[in-house]
Order: sequence, then structure tokens, then C-alpha cells
Amino acid sequence: MGGDLLQRIRVHGAVPQHVAVIMDGNGRWAKGRSLPRPLGHHAGMKSVREVVAGCLDAGVEVLTLFAFSQENWQRPASEIEALMALLEEYIASESAELSERGVRVRVLGDRDRLTEGARAAVGRVEAQTADGRALALNLCISYSSRGEITRAARQLAEEVAAGRLRPEEIDEDAIARRLLTAEWPDPDLLIRTSGEMRISNFLLWQLAYAELYVTPVLWPDFTRRDLFEAILEFQRRDRRFGRVTA
Ligand code: FPP
Repeated sequence: MGGDLLQRIRVHGAVPQHVAVIMDGNGRWAKGRSLPRPLGHHAGMKSVREVVAGCLDAGVEVLTLFAFSQENWQRPASEIEALMALLEEYIASESAELSERGVRVRVLGDRDRLTEGARAAVGRVEAQTADGRALALNLCISYSSRGEITRAARQLAEEVAAGRLRPEEIDEDAIARRLLTAEWPDPDLLIRTSGEMRISNFLLWQLAYAELYVTPVLWPDFTRRDLFEAILEFQRRDRRFGRVTA
């Protein structure tokens, strides 16, 4: 599916090295079908499989998915339990294939707050896929961008106080190296589903020069074709990074 679009992507040339996605609209998808919200999240799992496969096909190197924010802990307990169970289910059902296809999974966020089962599953999938080289899949769970920037600032202050770092050594690189995404290049493309025009405390530092792509498609309806459409749109953009075009 989407072979025609993939062909066009290849003709155009460079694909984004790093794609980030705010997976939004699961609740509305469920509501539209008079289903409980957790079933929307469950349906959203299929779209996760779709974008992982699409990124592998297109040659994207890093995929970062916003699965659960720090703010999401304020949702009803039943929904949180369903999301934790879903994370376990996703890992149990996908680990073997992710490992076979060379996908390296990492979870970014405060994992201490996860349920014991989810935390154990995360540890297992990270260990099992650690050698993957085809695609880095980052799942942002219990994640807050302001939280990670604050943590980096605190770390820098501690290093200065301990005499291991001079204040004049604090540059953008020093900050980036202390973020959870330290080992990857910044996202080139941010996709948000369900039409909302917000960044929602996601990768605030890292998205400085990302191309934004908002689609009205609700996350459970998002397919590999939608990913390819987003990549094609990215390829049409004129990225200037604050400069003028030559
Ligand atoms: C936002 O939709 C989505 C979430 C809070 C959860 C995303 C989770 C998944 C797609 C589940 C599978 C993922 C993994 C990695 C196991 P919303 O509930 O805010 O939707 P709404 O805005 O329509 O209410």
C-alpha cells in the first residue's frame, strides 16, 4: 500500500531523517463511533504499526511518537490503566518483529511513574531491540518537554556548582546533550493528527526548525499513505533555517 507515493518520494530525493508525531484524536474517533475512549487508543495502535512500517520503507532514520504526556496522568484512572495495558500489549505483540526489522526502541520520559508491568515491558523491549540499526523508534511516555529542559538546566547548574563546568561553556550543544534526545538529530518534520494547531509541550527545544504538518485525519485512521503524503509535502517545502534561499 502506498507504493505509488513511495515511488514519488524516491524521485524527489531526500526524506526527513527524523519524523516526530503527535498522535491525536483517538478519543474523538471513539466518540464518533459511540465507543469508550480506550477503544480509540486501541485502534490507534494499528496506526503506530503503519507509521513504523512506512518509516522503514521510506528510509526515515528516527521516529519519535508522543504516546503519553505528563499532563495525561490527570485523565480518568480507567483510561490511564487502559493506556498502560496497551503499552504492554504493543510491546508483547511487536517486540519480535521490531527486533527482526532492525528497529531500536527507546522510551523517553519519567518511567518511574509507569505501572510495574509497563516498566518491565519497556525494559524488555529496549534490551531486545538494542542492536537495531534500521530505525530508532522513540516512544515519549510520561513525557514533558518543559520538564526535560528544566532537568537539563538543573544538571548544568549542578555541574557548574561542582566546578566541572564553566558558565561560558554552556552553549546550545551543552543543553542539547543533556536532553533525552541527545543522541539523535532534531526532527525535520512534525506531524500532528486531528487538526489541532498546538505543540502541547512536545520537543519544544528540538522542534526549532522542524516543518509542521497538521492533518485533519484522526490518529486511528492515519495510515502509511498519510505518512507518505506528509513526507511528500515536506519535500516540497523550502527549508531556510532563518537564512535566505540561494
Ligand atoms: C491522544 O488522543 C492520544 C493519546 C493520549 C494516546 C496515544 C496512544 C496510542 C496511539 C496508543 C498506542 C501507542 C503505543 C506506543 C502503545 P486523545 O485521547 O487526546 O484524543 P482526543 O483529543 O480526540 O480526545
